[in-house]
Amino acid sequence: MNQNLNSALYDIGISYDDNWEQGPPLVKQQLNPPKRTAKKRTSFLGFEVNVPFGIPAGPLLNSSFIKTAFEWGFDVNHYKTQRSVVFKCNQFPNVLFVDVKGNLTLKKAAKPLIGKTKTSKSPKEFSITNSFGNPSRGPDVWQKDMKKALTYAKKGQLLIASVVGTIQEGFDENDYYDDFAYTALLAKETGVKIIEVNLSCPNVANEGVICYNKKATYQITRKVKEKIGNTPLLVKLGYYGDDQQELLGTIVKGMSPFVDGIAAINTISAPVVDQKGNQALPGPNRLKSGICGASIKWAGLDMVGRLTRIREKNRLRFAIIGVGGVMTPKDYEAYKKLGADLVQSATGAMWNPTLAYEIWKKHAKN
Ligand SMILES: Cc1cc2nc3c(=O)[nH]c(=O)nc-3n(C[C@H](O)[C@H](O)[C@H](O)COP(=O)(O)O)c2cc1C
Repeated sequence: MNQNLNSALYDIGISYDDNWEQGPPLVKQQLNPPKRTAKKRTSFLGFEVNVPFGIPAGPLLNSSFIKTAFEWGFDVNHYKTQRSVVFKCNQFPNVLFVDVKGNLTLKKAAKPLIGKTKTSKSPKEFSITNSFGNPSRGPDVWQKDMKKALTYAKKGQLLIASVVGTIQEGFDENDYYDDFAYTALLAKETGVKIIEVNLSCPNVANEGVICYNKKATYQITRKVKEKIGNTPLLVKLGYYGDDQQELLGTIVKGMSPFVDGIAAINTISAPVVDQKGNQALPGPNRLKSGICGASIKWAGLDMVGRLTRIREKNRLRFAIIGVGGVMTPKDYEAYKKLGADLVQSATGAMWNPTLAYEIWKKHAKN
């Protein structure tokens, strides 16, 4: 039976702006978070955290969402990616369920997937597409709100800012890279302890996605680090296929003087169509969008394994943040086993707000 399953953290049936204003559905349902007594803590980049688990950049739009995530036991959370300018969200809808049988391999992602507003799968098994375009209400709004979000972190909890550069009129490549650094500095001004740059978005200056471009990744990470000084810097990468492994090694080594941690992965891009074969998400450049959830777990695990090997082989020091298809405590465990220092879940957490509690109960209670 097809169900119109709603997410506890983000209402996929209403616009991004309405979500922003109304806050997470969980709060409206007046459900109480399960109680934890966190005693044991681990260190992540020098910060004590109850459980190295939380929600990556995306589902937590503002301080109201961050507050809810902390209350429900997600200990390391990202505030959704922000910009130095006001930037509109892509047209509604922004989230659809997609039918994927098994793993979304790169071969499968080359062919259209069917996007729907309903699914017959359980929240442990499904995948979605998300397409927002990194909207931002601008620094006047988010800096103030990020400061508020920081006040909701209890002992053993950590907030991370995510930023991205924006191409503006008259900008050349360097101006664009400088804008990443400027936006990171704006985030630092809020007092946030860790900053991530989102390198897994399309590079408007150069075509293609930034994280596959050596020059862009080096320039951006160097410029950001110069601006934010001793604040730890994370980079968010996409998936690198078998034929891109040399590139991954080179990029990781090249960025390593500036970077304290690497988060992987973002989504896997695929064309999404409706039942009739037409583009499912309205508007230009939206035939392809990012797929996340259960079907990309294989790719996140693969990247974390590869990053661990690169780290060991080259005796580098950086934290690894494993993201992609974490729907159950077992998935968390699989990422930790492969060398992840922190694990995060977007899709899984959106439909299961007790995921952090379940992980704490299984792995960190005593
Ligand atoms: C609703 C939603 C919004 C997202 N927005 C962002 C974003 O602003 N910045 C970013 O780096 N990643 C964003 N992502 C990607 C997630 O951080 C994550 O890398 C991806 O969803 C894979 O994890 P998952 O399988 O647990 O969903 C978003 C994901 C979702 C589901």
